[in-house]
Amino acid sequence: MTSEPKDYDNSWTYRVPQIHKELGEPVITIRHLSKTYNIPGTDESVKALHDIHLAPDSEFYPIRRGEFVILRGPSGGGKTTLLNILGTIDTATSGTVELLGEEISEISSDAYLSGLRLRRIGFVFQTFNLLGTMSAFENVELPMTIQGKLGHRQRQERALMLLETVGLQDRIAHLPSELSGGEQQRVTIARALSNDPDILLLDEPTGDLDTANTIDIMNLLLRINREKKTTCVMVTHNPDVECYADRLLYLEDGRFVKQAVNKVQTPLILEEYQEYLRKKDA
Ligand SMILES: Nc1ncnc2c1ncn2[C@@H]1O[C@H](COP(=O)(O)OP(=O)(O)OP(=O)(O)O)[C@@H](O)[C@H]1O
Ligand SMILES: [Mg+2]
Repeated sequence: MTSEPKDYDNSWTYRVPQIHKELGEPVITIRHLSKTYNIPGTDESVKALHDIHLAPDSEFYPIRRGEFVILRGPSGGGKTTLLNILGTIDTATSGTVELLGEEISEISSDAYLSGLRLRRIGFVFQTFNLLGTMSAFENVELPMTIQGKLGHRQRQERALMLLETVGLQDRIAHLPSELSGGEQQRVTIARALSNDPDILLLDEPTGDLDTANTIDIMNLLLRINREKKTTCVMVTHNPDVECYADRLLYLEDGRFVKQAVNKVQTPLILEEYQEYLRKKDA
């Protein structure tokens, strides 16, 4: 489900480095976002995000439809915190996020946020988070059942189509425990796509995978990003996959400290990458 692009002030885009890909309207704009965690039972608090600003009037400009952004930075820098706020599973202490033209802030109600999440956002985590007693097929079908928009037959057809998209048509009846790590992550990606999200948020999706599976998953994400124009915001600690992004944003101590742009997204080639790793380790 995609909405019509609305008119927006694009006068800031003259400052954006040229990339060889057409991007759409801004889908994520962040204004003066801060997050403080209070530690229950103590007076202590942790400031995880400091005045994050991703907006037309900042050097860190908004994320546009179809953009593939990779978030990097040291452990504890605030990456997961930011992703959870963008995914509406956590709320900021102050500031706003404009997501697909809808504004969210600390006063947004839970019902509003969960509706937005269910309709527009897909989430993929490092640990695969599949329901262990359900087959791959049932795991992918479940969010559609919860959303209640499609009938039984349509859900089943869509679950099958999504599992085909991620190359798992021969594994549909398998339980998560009967799938490899890479296959489980492909199921979670199929599940995240079940509501046809505008935005896919990924927190270290290849963190638990070996080299070959990392490349497989990255190539799958690149295909989804290019073909479906799904906006991807992905956290990773692996610098070698930066070539998949249109833009890299570095988060440190709860602040954006730098960004870099790739003119072209470039997939890794398994044999070449393995050769590179062998030489690096030698
Ligand atoms: N639920 C929480 N309660 C209190 N403090 C938290 C909570 N979650 C995160 N923090 C703190 O907020 C800061 C940012 O954490 P966050 O998980 O966002 O970092 P990160 O960049 O994702 O790190 P990593 O790369 O290790 O996953 C850290 O100092 C962390 O200890
Ligand atoms: Mg994290």
